[in-house]
Amino acid sequence: MSQIIAVLDFGSQYTQVIARRLRECSVYSKVYRYDVPVSQLKEEGVQAIILSGGPSSVLKDDSPKPEQALFELGVPVLGICYGLQLLGHMLGGEVMPSNEREYGRGTLSVVESESPLMQGIKPQIRVWNSHGDKLTRLPEGFRAIGETENSSFAAIEDPDRQFYGLQFHPEVFHSEQGQDIIHNFVFNICQCSGDWTMANYAEQAVEKIRETVGDKHVILGLSGGVDSSVAAALIHKAIGTQLTCVFVDNGLLRKNERAAVEKLFGDNFHMNLVVADAADLFLTRLKDVTDPEQKRKIIGRTFIEVFDAEVEKIGEVDFLAQGTIYPDVIESVPIGNNPAALIKSHHNVGGLPEHMKLKVLEPLNQLFKDEVRKLGEELGLPKSVVWRQPFPGPGLAVRVLDSVTEENLRIVREADHILLEEMKAADLYYKVWQSFAVFLPVRTVGVMGDERTYDYVIALRIVESIDAMTADWSYLPHDLLQRISSRIINEVKGVNRVCLDISSKPPSTIEWE
Ligand code: XMP
Repeated sequence: MSQIIAVLDFGSQYTQVIARRLRECSVYSKVYRYDVPVSQLKEEGVQAIILSGGPSSVLKDDSPKPEQALFELGVPVLGICYGLQLLGHMLGGEVMPSNEREYGRGTLSVVESESPLMQGIKPQIRVWNSHGDKLTRLPEGFRAIGETENSSFAAIEDPDRQFYGLQFHPEVFHSEQGQDIIHNFVFNICQCSGDWTMANYAEQAVEKIRETVGDKHVILGLSGGVDSSVAAALIHKAIGTQLTCVFVDNGLLRKNERAAVEKLFGDNFHMNLVVADAADLFLTRLKDVTDPEQKRKIIGRTFIEVFDAEVEKIGEVDFLAQGTIYPDVIESVPIGNNPAALIKSHHNVGGLPEHMKLKVLEPLNQLFKDEVRKLGEELGLPKSVVWRQPFPGPGLAVRVLDSVTEENLRIVREADHILLEEMKAADLYYKVWQSFAVFLPVRTVGVMGDERTYDYVIALRIVESIDAMTADWSYLPHDLLQRISSRIINEVKGVNRVCLDISSKPPSTIEWE
C-alpha cells in the first residue's frame, strides 16, 4: 500500500484542495474528520499529518480539536492557518483572540532559509493570508521561519519533533510557491517516495477488485459519463466477462449517444453490455409533466425499476459497481459556515432498493475527478469519453422546459447536436465546461421565404466553470455563434429563433430546468 498523508479537516473550505495538492506530489492523501482516533491513524500507518484551516477559534472550548496524543505519534505535522493556531495552543504557546477572521493578500518574508520547509523559496513571497486569532508566543522548541506584516510567527517550526505551521494557505493558487512549500513538506520532511501514480493505482485497484470479487458477478449501470465509463473499464480489466454493464436508454439521450456507448464498450472493449430499451416507458410516465422536480422523481424511480428488472434477468449477480468518486464520500465537517458542507449533491437520484441485496463495489472512491480522468486515459478510453462535458442524469428532460414529448425532444436533440458539432469543429468543446441547447416552450413569429412562421425558440447555454459551483457564460467568436444559429434555424424543423444565454451562476444556474 502507498504511503498516506492524513489531512485532518477542521471545517476549511480548502481541505480537499490540500488533499489534491498532496496527490499532485504523487503521494496518497486521505481526509479525516478532526476527531479521528489517533489509534486509527497509527493503524493505517500514516506518514504525516496536516491540520487544515477552519472557521473556529482555538480559544473557544467547543472548537474542534484533535486528540492530544496526535503530537506523540512521532510523525511530521503541518498546521495550516487554524492548524497553526492549534499547534500554538495545544503545545503550550499563546494565542490571542481577534474579533474577525478575514482573508487577504500578504507578503511572507523568509527568516530561516535553511529550514527544510523553505528550501528554494524566494526571500519574499506573496501569500494568501488568513487574519484571525494570532499566535503571540511560540511553544517551547519552536522558532519562526517566516514573518508577515501582521505576524512574526507566520511560519514556524520545531525541527526536532518535525512540527511545522503556516499562518497562510499554501494550497491556494494565490499563494506564490505554495505548491513548492507543500512539496518541501512531502519530500524534505516526510521523506515520501512519491510513488502514487495512476499506473500504480490501476495495478493495485485491479488486484483488489479481483480479490474482492473472486469468481462472482458484478453489474454496473453505465451512463456513458466519465465516472461510470472509467469504473467499467477498470473493472473489466480486472474481471473481464464477470462484469455486465447495463445501459438504460431512457429516450432522453443526446443524438447518437446510445450508438457511441454500444460501439465503444460493446465492439471495442468486448464487454458484456445490456441495453435496456426503455424510452417508451419513460416518455409515457413523463407525459404532461412540466415540473422539473416531478420529472426528476419519475426518471429516478423509473431508472431503478428498469435497472432492477435487468438485474433480475441476468440472474446470478453479487456486486453492484458504482462510479462514486472521492469528493462524494468525504464527510465534510459542518462547522461554521463552511460552503463545502452545503455542496452535497441535491441532484442524486437515490440508492437502489434494499431487496437487491447486492454488495457495493466502488473502485474510484479514493480518486478526485482529475485522477479519474487520468485513470481513464491510462485504461485506453478515448478523449471523447474522458474529457466529455457533464450531462445531467435526467438528460434532455431538464432541457425541455415543457412536457417531454417526442417532438420537443427531437427539436432540442437536433439543435444540441448542431451546437456540439460546431463547438468541436471550432476546437472549443473541450475548452468550455458545458455547451448545450435548451428548448423553450415559446413560439414567436418569423418569416421563411414568403411565408410567415410561428415556431419555437432555442436557447444556447455555453459556460465556463471550474466545478459547476460558479459559472460564467463564454465569450465566443461571433462568426461561430452566427453559424450555430443559422444552422439550427435552417436544419431543425420547428425552430425559427435562437437566443444566447448571457447569465452567470450565481444568480442563475447552469441548467434552465
Ligand atoms: P446547475 O443547473 O445546478 O448545475 O447550475 C450544476 C451542474 O449539475 C448538473 N445538473 C445535474 N446533474 N442531475 C444531474 O446528474 C440533475 O438533475 C442535474 N441538474 C443539473 C448540470 O449539468 C451542471 O453541470
